[in-house]
Amino acid sequence: MLLQRVKPLERILAEGSDDSQPHKLKKTLGAGSLMAMGIGAIIGTGIFVLTGVAAATRSGPSLTISFIVAGIVSAFAALCYSEVASRIPISGSAYTFAYASLGEFVAWIIGWDLVLEYALGAATVSIGWSGYFTTFIKNVFNWPIPQALQHNYWDSGPTGQPIHGIMNLPAFCIILLIGALLYRGTRESAVVNNVIVILKVSVVLFFIVLGYGHVNTGNWVPYFPFGITGMLGGAAFIFFAYIGFDAVSTAAEETKNPKRDLPIGILGSLAVCTVLYIIVVAILTGMVPYTQLNVPSPVAFAMDHVGMGWASAIISLGALAGLTTVLLVMMFGQTRVFFAMSRDGLLPPIFSKIHPKFRTPGVSTILFTIFIALIAAFTPIGVVGSLTNMGTLAAFILVSISLPILRKRYPGTDGFTVPFGPYLIPILSAVTAFGLIISLAFGSPKILGIPLPWVGFVIWLLIGMVIYFTYSRSHSTVGVDEAAAGALGS
Ligand code: ALA
Repeated sequence: MLLQRVKPLERILAEGSDDSQPHKLKKTLGAGSLMAMGIGAIIGTGIFVLTGVAAATRSGPSLTISFIVAGIVSAFAALCYSEVASRIPISGSAYTFAYASLGEFVAWIIGWDLVLEYALGAATVSIGWSGYFTTFIKNVFNWPIPQALQHNYWDSGPTGQPIHGIMNLPAFCIILLIGALLYRGTRESAVVNNVIVILKVSVVLFFIVLGYGHVNTGNWVPYFPFGITGMLGGAAFIFFAYIGFDAVSTAAEETKNPKRDLPIGILGSLAVCTVLYIIVVAILTGMVPYTQLNVPSPVAFAMDHVGMGWASAIISLGALAGLTTVLLVMMFGQTRVFFAMSRDGLLPPIFSKIHPKFRTPGVSTILFTIFIALIAAFTPIGVVGSLTNMGTLAAFILVSISLPILRKRYPGTDGFTVPFGPYLIPILSAVTAFGLIISLAFGSPKILGIPLPWVGFVIWLLIGMVIYFTYSRSHSTVGVDEAAAGALGS
């Protein structure tokens, strides 16, 4: 059963290029927009929020090495994504690649797993956004939002005291706002995204230029306070910072020239962000002793720490803008993956219903907006963040495995080609991603001695399997066609 029901590539490509299809998306995106979409998706909560906790509790100053490690793992995966996405330029990302190579069951698992990456990722980012937002309006407008409306019931304060909040209202609201924007259409959201990406990169450069002169190399000693294991735990934790380049592949079907534009979008955005991250983190850990970095807005805090409060406000604004584009891409990606799964019959038809005027998956956008907003309002950031990492790393592994199978099954397809043959990079990608999954255990809460992200992932997969066997398997269009062909043949 494992490798059954492979969806033929010819059929996948025909669906994407057939303009008479009722479920048809507009082709509006070029290489520039895709790269901006990638940078828009990548720079966010990981660098602006999670670096602080990672430095204080896992890596110390070796957080710079953690970022290099996570960057290398991401680069291997990005190469694999570039090849499969450019060979199969159809909405749905990793899910579609798996359907054409590993068959329906694995495709389902990936599609289901991507909810962890995109929907929970968006929830994580909105909680980070909420932290910067509340601090910003308190500092600048002196308007404190009540604690109970900033936090969910399980959140705790800086010293670990319980808060017993009601809900994270700012996180809830920003998700509703982004959902409304996406409902209106890809093109409008791409324009907004491009403007904000310029702003966000400027703020990162601003931090680098101002912070450089305040580095005290004494803060880099000891470099590995939690050992190599801590450094690797930090890499698994801040891996979140790199998530997003793969979301570019969810826009494949709306891309004008996928074979050229997708690799540029994926690899280009990752390269830019990796370089910026490494410099930012080296400066950050040089400006502030790592022991003091356990704060929700570490990058702004570093500016305060060296007496540049005015710069801290500017950085907070940039961070807010930056986090907004991450939300845009993640929520976009989520609806496009479910769009593809629904078009294949694996999910109910409402997920591929296109809005008659805006040509977007309107109902799906509304449903996910509500789902993500509720998670954001009532779940702690650590829980959703670590589950996002877990789900994304699992998807990376499956995409890497699918590459050699795809090449073998469809030797005639053309597109970007990963160097050094069909095995080396995919194997390195899968093995290193698995290494980060193991490292996620460091510092994670445990349930019956098992790290929370592992437990959550397995429970989510089990729910997915129940849905697959009770609904998707019998509604699959590939399955129905296979059965019809079988009946004709007999
Ligand atoms: N990489 C994205 C972020 O850090 C998900 O917010």
